[in-house]
Amino acid sequence: MVRLHWVRRLSGLTKMRRRDVNVWAVCGVSVWLLISTWLVTSKQNLGGPFASWDPRKSWSTGWSTDNGTAAEKVDLVESYREFYYGTKFEYPDPYTLQKDLFVVHVGPEKGRRLASVDELEFYDSDPRLVWSVVFEHLLQDRNGSGSLPFSWYDWADFRDYNKLLSLKKTDVPCKFFFQKHFDSSKLAEIEIEIGEFLFELDRDYYFDAPSEDSSADVQDRIADACVSNPRADAGARSTVVTALKDKVRPEVYRLQARNHLLNTVENPISITIMDKDSGSWQFNVERIPRKNILESGLLDSYLQRKEVKNHDHVFDLSKQFAEFEKSKPARAHRVNITEISEEERNAFHAPSTHIRKSDFEFDALTRIQELESKIDELTAHEKAYLNSLRVSTQTHYAFAPKHFREPSDLSDFESLGWHHDARFFNGAVFQDFLDARTRLDSMIRTFQKFLKAHGLICWLAHGTLYGYVYNGLSFPWDNDFDVQMPIRHLHIMAQHFNQTLVLEDPREGNGKFIIDVGSSITTRIKGNGMNNIDARFIDVDSGLYIDITGISVSSAMLSDRYAAEFYKFRDSIGTEIKHADPNLIANETDIPLQVLANRMDSDAKYTEEDKKALEKLVTEANKEMSSSKSPSKYYSAEQRYNLNYELDLYNCRNHHFLQYDMISPLILTRFHGVPALVPNQYITTLRKEYSVPSRYGFLAHKGNTYVPEFRYWCTSTVLKQAMNKKGTQEGIEVVNSPLNSLSIEDVGLLYKNIAELREVELLSLLHNSRKQSTYRLKELELQYANGTAHQRIEELRRLEEQLGSDLCPLTKDPYIQHLQREKWRALATPNDPSSEALSEVDLEVATDLLKWVELMHSKQLPFLKKAVSGENPESRDYNQIDGIEGNFIFRLDPDLRTKEDD
Ligand SMILES: *[C@@H]1O[C@H](CO)[C@@H](O)[C@H](O)[C@H]1NC(C)=O
Ligand SMILES: *[C@@H]1O[C@H](CO)[C@@H](O)[C@H](O)[C@H]1NC(C)=O
Ligand SMILES: *[C@@H]1O[C@H](CO)[C@@H](O)[C@H](O)[C@H]1NC(C)=O
Ligand SMILES: *[C@@H]1O[C@H](CO)[C@@H](O)[C@H](O)[C@H]1NC(C)=O
Ligand SMILES: *[C@@H]1O[C@H](CO)[C@@H](O)[C@H](O)[C@H]1NC(C)=O
Ligand SMILES: *[C@@H]1O[C@H](CO)[C@@H](O)[C@H](O)[C@H]1NC(C)=O
Repeated sequence: MVRLHWVRRLSGLTKMRRRDVNVWAVCGVSVWLLISTWLVTSKQNLGGPFASWDPRKSWSTGWSTDNGTAAEKVDLVESYREFYYGTKFEYPDPYTLQKDLFVVHVGPEKGRRLASVDELEFYDSDPRLVWSVVFEHLLQDRNGSGSLPFSWYDWADFRDYNKLLSLKKTDVPCKFFFQKHFDSSKLAEIEIEIGEFLFELDRDYYFDAPSEDSSADVQDRIADACVSNPRADAGARSTVVTALKDKVRPEVYRLQARNHLLNTVENPISITIMDKDSGSWQFNVERIPRKNILESGLLDSYLQRKEVKNHDHVFDLSKQFAEFEKSKPARAHRVNITEISEEERNAFHAPSTHIRKSDFEFDALTRIQELESKIDELTAHEKAYLNSLRVSTQTHYAFAPKHFREPSDLSDFESLGWHHDARFFNGAVFQDFLDARTRLDSMIRTFQKFLKAHGLICWLAHGTLYGYVYNGLSFPWDNDFDVQMPIRHLHIMAQHFNQTLVLEDPREGNGKFIIDVGSSITTRIKGNGMNNIDARFIDVDSGLYIDITGISVSSAMLSDRYAAEFYKFRDSIGTEIKHADPNLIANETDIPLQVLANRMDSDAKYTEEDKKALEKLVTEANKEMSSSKSPSKYYSAEQRYNLNYELDLYNCRNHHFLQYDMISPLILTRFHGVPALVPNQYITTLRKEYSVPSRYGFLAHKGNTYVPEFRYWCTSTVLKQAMNKKGTQEGIEVVNSPLNSLSIEDVGLLYKNIAELREVELLSLLHNSRKQSTYRLKELELQYANGTAHQRIEELRRLEEQLGSDLCPLTKDPYIQHLQREKWRALATPNDPSSEALSEVDLEVATDLLKWVELMHSKQLPFLKKAVSGENPESRDYNQIDGIEGNFIFRLDPDLRTKEDD
């Protein structure tokens, strides 16, 4: 991960600022600068390995003058434990009408109590509020036909943006959202009015009070991207961002993007509510206009129906959900995808699953006809899908427009912008290691549950698969996930879920993700190179995403990694065309670039820009032709399609090839604790891209080290400090045995040192991943065990049955984490003698971790031992794990193809 000079967030700040707000207002800008400067310099002294908000470090800084009571201290220790090591899905406090909704949370009127909904101007979209109101509404829709009013305001995080909505005096013009950095005097004006920081990360940049950025660029950016009504009210309500522009700093882009999301981004087509991992309900959404629960009157009707009078009403989501679940509207809106076969639906239950070769080819032209023949029966999703297919099949690959946008050119942000969808960018989440891991973990778990619920076939790929191989987890330095889907399943996903907002089951978490499928999925080659990714599963609260690529037969030039297959079979395959790409329209989308170029000169429908783009493509193609080592480079496109088809070689649009037998049968496993599929030849698959070491064990890679005793990757610099070989770390014991062959005692010492170095985030991940990584170790042994493939598959099935459901999440729900953090801020007090009590918590965790390793070592780990009972006659003790560590198991793939598979 790239380290930037972030300033940590501080718990005490909120309190101090609240008290001093009047002073600020009186003294004005110069004092604002002084105070900011002082805050920033004091914070810089904190240092530390991870640039995240850290309650323990912050409360020794003496911001507040409150002293906690004894009860609060107990609370403090417990909430500390819960914050770092707990993963339960549990709200710290109930959400109520009077305490939460009717108290102004931010802005000049902070703390004011409202008398009724009519006085509500903005609110935080707490899931309990929004869900309760929406479920209540859905229950009323007995016809089952109504569309749901929708605004992104209710479904994404607008907490900080609310500060701009709260302003009464200060106006927020277009310029505010498009300057490279905030203009200090405008920022001061806003912060003085609201009495707190507008944002907290990386404020030291403003330490030097940068002057206004009034460059011509700013005017250019605004010209086609923002409209503002200068005579309207103060605040941000009269400013509308209509297009996104990067080249600004992340804190600026963040608010720009939130404004854009609120005012400009289209509503989704539907919301899809997960029923754990077993199914879902889908409800169409009104696409225009945008209406939040206040504007649509839904909140009002909810309160009326609940007859909420003077008592404080609790928004009880679980009660509301239970009612919804067994209601008639729920039954009417149950998703049922008839295109998915029983066997496919079973893929996330059976230990291994065949996919059909025909799943790697898709005939979109025929599909268009089928859909057109029943046009009156099509759902909103199907109509949109049909339109997309029409456009896609009629567009030559040279002109396929770029579909996904990333803020790749943010200022002072290295290249981290690439990891975010532009529309949902919500700040530099990677500045907070734990927060980023929490979001990523929640995202992949929800995605896998989504796949399982609908029988969508999709397997782990690229770096994600590589991470899985070691411990069933992604690499901790990976900032996204990669998965692959057969083209047929990509189409099924587009047909039913493109532009749906997937909502995690509210009994399990608060994840919210938009599914976005590209507009040119019938093109299966790299083309103009702008659409390597077919679809994304995007977290709407951070913009982080899972990259989904479709795999299909195509006319791509075969990768030279498959030269052997080519030379072995080319004569028997010959050059006669037996299989042709069904998606091409003759003399339109099938013409080679050079022919297209010639035709353009005489056809007025092409613009100068088209011509330039094509010229560039032709040049690139010629260059590629001369340097390419592809064995099929002298074949025509038609011949290449035929060849790839015959060789069962399929590719994504970035021309990564996979051979059918490498993938099928897919093997069921666990990834981040939830069911997932992997190719049966995962080592071969990875070796087409990476040089995977043959040995499983201690391994160093690009500043990270895999410690087999931890079954986890750690930053090498942190390990070095914790080993303390040279004794330079004061108060840290020296670990004597070498890192690549630790004695059991030293494993314990290493855990303890990590705790004493206050590497709490690492400790937390080591602790919460221990079941998943131990499971993977046992699974590895079973995958590589002696015997027949049939026996191995059977043993894997049993392992999943016995232990699979015992695995737990790595992190907690991100929203719960946020609430706990807020609660912590309210509790934390300075000079608190419980500092040691908090360190105790870390040391206890270190001791627990050692105990786990010791029990594994002595083959007594209860997690691996299931009592044999009447109900569970197959139970067995899994403590014996042999032949994995230190062995060269990855020389070969595990052999998981049974006789029936051939
Ligand atoms: C808070 O604690 C400090 C140090 O323990 C003590 O000096 C101070 O008097 C206490 N303040 C109050 C208000 O109790
Ligand atoms: C249900 O359908 C009836 C008749 O079509 C209509 O009048 C009524 O408004 C509908 N109710 C809802 C909640 O959509
Ligand atoms: C799904 O739809 C098919 C065909 O319409 C039907 O036969 C099947 O019973 C449905 N399944 C469920 C679970 O509703
Ligand atoms: C998915 O939706 C987007 C946005 O409406 C659209 O541009 C794209 O063509 C759709 N893709 C498919 C395959 O339906
Ligand atoms: C292909 O299209 C071009 C122009 O659109 C036309 O001139 C030509 O005759 C067509 N060729 C065939 C074989 O249809
Ligand atoms: C598996 O078989 C190999 C070769 O036959 C043998 O060397 C090895 O000890 C066996 N492993 C186990 C765990 O039985």
